Amino acid sequence: MEVRVRHVDLDLEADFARKILRGFATLHLERSRDAGQAPLVLDTRDLEIAKTEAAGSDGAFHAVRYSLGRTDKILGTELIIEASAAASRVRIWYQTSPSASGLQWLSPAQTAAKRHPFLFSQSQAIHARSWIPLQDTPGVRFTYNARIRTPKALIALMSAENDPKTERDGEYTFRMPQPIPSYLMAIAVGDLMFRALSNRTGVYAEPPIIEAAAKEFSDTEKMVQAAESLYGPYRWGRYDLLVLPPSFPFGGMENPRLTFVTPTVLAGDKSLVSLVAHELAHSWSGNLVTNATWSDFWLNEGVTTYIERRIEEVLYGERRASMEAALGRQSLEKEIERLDDRFEILHVDLTGMDPDEGVTDIPYEKGALFLRTLEETFGRKVFDVFLRGYFDHFAFQSITTAQFIGYLKKNLFVSHPEQARRIPLEEWIYKAGVPAGAANPVSDAFEKAEQRAARWHNEQVPIAKTDTAGWTTQEWLAFLRYFEDHRLTPEQMARLDRQFQFTQTGNSEIEFEWLLLSVRYGYTPAYSRLEEFLTTVGRRKFLRPLYEELVKTPEGAIRARSIYAKARPGYHPIAQATVDEILKVGSN
Ligand code: BES
Ligand code: ZN
Repeated sequence: MEVRVRHVDLDLEADFARKILRGFATLHLERSRDAGQAPLVLDTRDLEIAKTEAAGSDGAFHAVRYSLGRTDKILGTELIIEASAAASRVRIWYQTSPSASGLQWLSPAQTAAKRHPFLFSQSQAIHARSWIPLQDTPGVRFTYNARIRTPKALIALMSAENDPKTERDGEYTFRMPQPIPSYLMAIAVGDLMFRALSNRTGVYAEPPIIEAAAKEFSDTEKMVQAAESLYGPYRWGRYDLLVLPPSFPFGGMENPRLTFVTPTVLAGDKSLVSLVAHELAHSWSGNLVTNATWSDFWLNEGVTTYIERRIEEVLYGERRASMEAALGRQSLEKEIERLDDRFEILHVDLTGMDPDEGVTDIPYEKGALFLRTLEETFGRKVFDVFLRGYFDHFAFQSITTAQFIGYLKKNLFVSHPEQARRIPLEEWIYKAGVPAGAANPVSDAFEKAEQRAARWHNEQVPIAKTDTAGWTTQEWLAFLRYFEDHRLTPEQMARLDRQFQFTQTGNSEIEFEWLLLSVRYGYTPAYSRLEEFLTTVGRRKFLRPLYEELVKTPEGAIRARSIYAKARPGYHPIAQATVDEILKVGSN
């Protein structure tokens, strides 16, 4: 790349009446020596450009010409700015579209308190371009400063230095002094409260749920300490969480200094907080050492899923971490059955595709299994030292899979040739499926829960005698997943429901499994809960399987369309696109 963005100054106003961000972005450029007169080409999607300006290092801004390229469905529209080789800064005056793919503007009714509107961004993978004109690739890193204006009753937060005690006056400033890739640009605006969890950790949430959130996430500081003792200092200053409204399309998003989380993890018993361990782990794997391209996505998610379980082991013990690993292995196997071979490759070829299509269990679970296999093969002590060295070596860089492999060979394989021979590296990275000799995470508790399910299903023990006292969420999930491929009659579903009240559970993961079975086996008493779930929760991981299950039968497809007609306006653009595809409907 001949011209690179090194720093961004943002100045934006959040206009809730029109659902747009409006203002300017100033990009500070660095040119390679052979850059010559090459114009600056930026990524945009649905941005309305008002004017572009350029300036030399000390000079004033003056207008320069720009043009727009052809619009590509996946990549959006190139913005070509005719800045001279002397220009070290360009300024783009613009506004976003109300339907920007990376923003969701919520009405008060879609929030917990129902009193004020809400705005949040989701930039990963390539949606930053729908709210900021920039070089939207994880291979380019920049620092940023921002000034955000909002209605006076609301506060703005960004993935940057936030002062929890800042005055609520409608103007907020931010500083991100460490260089980050564009997919970590993030903003949220709403009526939010803050609770400190420790000196450097805290949680933001809407007033009605702030107490519950502070309780659920009270282990956050311990998680940071666990990660630090394994992989070196947390390098980002504060670590805060922001609990979003339920239409947030993901479980969590590792925005630096400010992880975004779905409210569906507020189970009341901390049983789903491994999600925080996951997003926190990205402070090392992802935010510090970043995948250079979306084909290297497993470097972000596989390493993070491995670390997530290491943190979980420190906080909640080996038993729970193993159960999660066993659940992960089970998901991986199911995913491999479903997927085309070319998507089972860690270094996946995404040519011509939307990078969101590469988000499967492969980068997460096959990636984590690869790291676990390395850990078991070289020994935990050796592998921990290796991984810590890896983060130090590549800190604040974006790296490719080839760079990872080079580092692995040089710093682990060369010194341990005996063990290295047992790792079919090429196969792990460039072939489909799971190599023979992969680690096989086992969990006693997981197997027991499955056996309970099997014994009842085979009518060896009546349901009342099924001993489930003291079961954790992970055991319930193992129990329920057993029935995904062991058919139940509606009567058997009813018996389970009478015994365990699954339809009424307050745990979103259990609810999801139960609703999936309810659709699959025609358990009609759960249908109204299904509709309620699909019209309030916008988490894509839940929506996709439920809608896919519904459309398998003609009656289900009719029900899916009628539910979606009500639910769609409340979904995030990313979730809308996913469900549009499944139901073959859409706005355009
Ligand atoms: N970075 C991802 C979310 C993501 C990935 C958004 C790709 C857009 C494109 C985040 O860290 C993540 O993996 N979230 C998971 C939860 C996690 C516990 C597996 C999710 O949202 O389900
Ligand atoms: Zn992740």
